[in-house]
Amino acid sequence: MTLLTLLTYVVYLLAASGFILALRFLASPRTARTGNLLGAAGMALVIVWTLAVTPGMLSHWWILLLAGAIGAVVGMLGARRVPMTAMPQMVAIFNGAGGGAAAVVALSEFLAAAGHGSGLLPLVPMIATLLGAVIGGVSLTGSIVAFGKLQGLIPARPVSYPGQQIVAAVLLGALVVIGIVLAAITNSVPLFLAFVAIALVTGVALVMPIGGADMPVVISLLNSYTGIAVAATGFVLGNYALLIAGTLVGASGAVLTQLMCRAMNRSLFNVLFGAFGTGGAAAGGPAGAEQNAREIGAEDAAVLMAYGQKVIIVPGYGMAVAQAQQPVRELMDLLLARGVDVQFAIHPVAGRMPGHMNVLLAEANVPYERLKEMDEINDEFPTADVALVIGANDVTNPAARTDKSSPIYGMPILNVDQAANVVVLKRSMAAGFAGIANPLYADDKTAMLFGDAKQSVQALVTGVKNA
Ligand code: TAP
Repeated sequence: MTLLTLLTYVVYLLAASGFILALRFLASPRTARTGNLLGAAGMALVIVWTLAVTPGMLSHWWILLLAGAIGAVVGMLGARRVPMTAMPQMVAIFNGAGGGAAAVVALSEFLAAAGHGSGLLPLVPMIATLLGAVIGGVSLTGSIVAFGKLQGLIPARPVSYPGQQIVAAVLLGALVVIGIVLAAITNSVPLFLAFVAIALVTGVALVMPIGGADMPVVISLLNSYTGIAVAATGFVLGNYALLIAGTLVGASGAVLTQLMCRAMNRSLFNVLFGAFGTGGAAAGGPAGAEQNAREIGAEDAAVLMAYGQKVIIVPGYGMAVAQAQQPVRELMDLLLARGVDVQFAIHPVAGRMPGHMNVLLAEANVPYERLKEMDEINDEFPTADVALVIGANDVTNPAARTDKSSPIYGMPILNVDQAANVVVLKRSMAAGFAGIANPLYADDKTAMLFGDAKQSVQALVTGVKNA
């Protein structure tokens, strides 16, 4: 082994350690920034080293510099300007770019190898190239559709048509057959191009029938696919750094997808093929309208909290829509100043993306130690004077515990109904994402404060000030 190869392995090892530590640190909002920096440092190290030691690489230095500068400017401006609520779209686009890059590398490797024309390419690298092309292609167009749905450019509702699953099966079957022909019979370039084209169509066909509100799960899954495509590319190029980075992305994306499905008590199959939900942006329907619910005014609700000892705030999708996080922090400050204990109960799938509530509340400077995960806070509801539910619905629905016919039966929920009083802030009796009635609203302990969550919380702030 030459000194250069040894040093390259050392660099890869350092970078891989950076990636693994990054994942570890990203697990908590407190250390997430450090994690992000460590991951970026690992990536920068590998890029600089690879450019410096790969023969001929720097002869086209201006192309690298130009492309790198364009990418850096677009990435930095995008990340700085994107509002927190549009983060899933941004991740979708970045993920699509990663998948597209893996597909392009696979294509150029195939064309370069097939150009030599000396018989069939060796089987193992060929399989890795095909995997890179197919997974990268599916991720590229799948992510573009996910972006379009979240951005409202294409219908967010599940777009399904008769025979849709047969079409998907035919496309996947065609990919398998052409893949086998390419690997075992002929390295035909037109056939490979057809293979990539079918992969691109498959990405669209797989994501179109999925509802907009399920896009975070889809994006996480596509992210995992992209990781696998990148790992396959690393294998083809003999680059361990790519192999490790791709495997880490593939594995963590798969774990995140699984965690989200489990927290919703739905199978991945149901998310992908169940045409669940209404599209998501403003999910809601008449379900529950027939329920008898007691109303409460902001002043009375404020008094309930101001003279209580413990208030647990349960944020949900409605808080994000209303952008109510700043007034919520103000309410917390006022209650704390009066000696009321205030905690936040965070359900793992509250909102529409992983960590949605944590990010919004962190943006409003709510201290991390006040945010409690579901398992941590659920036993505390019986000791709370008020559970203040702000734009959350499904994650508080007791039907998940008792009603076997409910689509969310078995989903772990926040035990808000065990608090002495429940105050629910929402605009109407409309349903949440799952489209089902919430028996919590008919509970004697529950009082509804109707209106946009931001205005309602502002009214509560005034109420507590006057109490
Ligand atoms: P939802 O059950 O969707 O309920 C949100 C409620 O907010 C609605 O009932 C709506 O009622 C209210 N709302 C909307 N805009 C509002 C506004 N401006 N002011 C006040 N209220 C407003 O939300 P959740 O409890 O957070 O549950 C999340 C759901 O999304 C779960 O079913 C989960 O499985 C699903 N999901 C989550 C994720 C992730 S990763 N978080 C991913 C995919 C799916 P009104 O219309 O009456 O106001």
